[in-house]
Amino acid sequence: MLTTLADVLKTAEAANAAIPAFNIDNIEGTEAVVEAAEAERWPLILTIGQGAIQAGQLRHLAALVQDIAAVSTIPIVLHLDHGISYEQTVQCLRLGFTSVMYDGSHRSFAENMRESQAVVRSAHAVGVSVECELGAISGVEDGMSHSVVNLVDINEVERFSAEVDCDALAVGIGNAHGMYQGTPHFDFDRLEACRRLNAPPLVLHGGSGTPDEMIRKAIQLGIRKVNVATELRMAFMAGLESKVGSRDFYGMYRQAKANVTEIARHKIGLFRGK
Ligand code: 13P
Repeated sequence: MLTTLADVLKTAEAANAAIPAFNIDNIEGTEAVVEAAEAERWPLILTIGQGAIQAGQLRHLAALVQDIAAVSTIPIVLHLDHGISYEQTVQCLRLGFTSVMYDGSHRSFAENMRESQAVVRSAHAVGVSVECELGAISGVEDGMSHSVVNLVDINEVERFSAEVDCDALAVGIGNAHGMYQGTPHFDFDRLEACRRLNAPPLVLHGGSGTPDEMIRKAIQLGIRKVNVATELRMAFMAGLESKVGSRDFYGMYRQAKANVTEIARHKIGLFRGK
């Protein structure tokens, strides 16, 4: 069943847990994470990112998610990841997304606030949820690199939350996209301060390679959605690579899928606090 981000975040809040947001790029990877979430009986956010969009997959992946969600036994959110403009979020509204992210974190605070408000107004008019972002998340996301320091400003969280009626807020607390080199350092005090401000449900991007205990602590302190992309893509590619010499076309995809499902099940268990 297709549902909104606001809806699944209520489940997360009630359980003091987080919902996984897995980036999808193709049919097999999407099936793999849906099977994982169905086995774990936990809602799922399927996110379409800028890499997939640049590869021309926006409409195909949106249709795929709608098709899968129609017969799925769990709530599924069709979500735009790091929307680059107001216009792109509107295109997604037309395609039937149930949630869009507008990422204005690399713009000025005033501009981010203004554009986020416009996105919220349009999306809410048709019952679609909105995620916004403060404190640009560094690293490479689908080929887009942000070099800005990524610790969110608490005063900005307070002002933004008072003015922008978004359903979720991604905050930079030392997290980065891609695999970490060494152990990341998260500013948990900052995360706690964000939560005390009556901010919307908080989102952690860059979930790949984060030690499990850091994820658990972040969820304890109010993270309600965790994004994972790179780790799943690497597992998928490793599955294909392991079967390259076999000349078994479907066998390669079966292995890739199995690898992704295994990681996704582990992440889902971790996020729901099993
Ligand atoms: P990773 O690729 O580091 O898991 O980050 C994913 C993400 O945050 C997508 O928005």
